[in-house]
Order: sequence, then C-alpha cells, then structure tokens
Amino acid sequence: YSTTDPSSLWVVVNKQHPLTPIDYSPADIITGLDGYAYSQRIDKDLRALFKKAATENVSINLTSAFRPFNGQQTLYRNYTAQYGQATADTISARAGYSEHQTGLTVDISGSSQPTCNFNPCFVDTAEGKWLALNAREFGFIVRYTAGNEDITGYNPEAWHLRYVGTELASILAKEKIDTLEEFFNVKGGKVYK
Ligand code: DAL
Ligand code: ZN
Repeated sequence: YSTTDPSSLWVVVNKQHPLTPIDYSPADIITGLDGYAYSQRIDKDLRALFKKAATENVSINLTSAFRPFNGQQTLYRNYTAQYGQATADTISARAGYSEHQTGLTVDISGSSQPTCNFNPCFVDTAEGKWLALNAREFGFIVRYTAGNEDITGYNPEAWHLRYVGTELASILAKEKIDTLEEFFNVKGGKVYK
C-alpha cells in the first residue's frame, strides 16, 4: 500500500507529512464500538481485540477514535491554551497532521489505574502492558513509544493504537521495529514542515 495516500492502511502521518488534502475525511467512517466513529476497515479487528481483552479480564475502554480536521483543531487549541504551544506540540498533533483524522487510530483507557489514562504511566498499567503485547495480533501498533521521540515527534503514548493490518504489525514485531518512519524510511521528527 501507499505511505502517502490518506486512505492507505500504511499511510505515514507525522509532522513532516500532513494528510493530503489537509482536511481529508475518510469515506468509510462508521459508528462502531461504544458509539465511536472510525474506519470500517478497523471494526472487525478492534472488536476482536476487545473480545480477547474481556476473556482475559483486562478492562479496557475506547476513549477516542476518528477525529475530523475541525475536532483536531479544537483539541490542539485547548492543549495550547492549557500548556503553551511548545508542550502542546509534544502531545497533540496540529489539525491535518493527526493519525486520528485517518479513521485508523484509537485511544484506549484502562480501569485499573484511572489516573494513568492518557498519562505516561499508562505504559506500566495492566492494560497498557496487555495492549503492548496483544494489539499486534489484531493489526494495531503502539505508535508513539519511549526512546523514539526524535523520530515520531511525540512523547510516548501507550494508549494510542494505529491500525496497519495484521501483516505489517507482525513484521514490525518480528523485526523489532517500533516506528513506521524507520520501516518505510520516511522522514519524521519534532519539527513541522
Ligand atoms: N496525540 C496524537 C499525537 C494526536 O494528536 O494525534
Ligand atoms: Zn491518540
């Protein structure tokens, strides 16, 4: 698949690669799990991921999924107002630069330590650890991982899962490659184009 076509399962979206067009909206957005909107292409595997979690008594919840250009703009503005632009840029994408706008990305929360939801400590929760091990089986990768901030452009987010399909997710795991930028040799980083 293409890494630049916004409707591709393998599209690489980062601070050097906005969506084109910048206000791209996927054609296949459905109302899915828990009433969240996301691409129809992730529905089956996302539901299977949640089903496996339930059978293993891992309590996860969907807390964000598809975000249109305007929604991302509002979110980024709120972070900027709260933390200032420099900090906001480490945790939130500017509108047109978020994977959430592809419909292929979800954020997940856990019940065991609610204060860690959307926080760095989520990585050490039961749910964060479970997702790091199990998401790939369903085609999702943890997109922003520790040690890769200079490549991804963002602080680690153990709750942010990007769907790339089971084939690529298993290759990344096997080759121990954490980022799409490294796998596809696509420029990333903390600086906006
Ligand atoms: N939090 C991620 C980087 C986003 O806003 O898409
Ligand atoms: Zn996210």
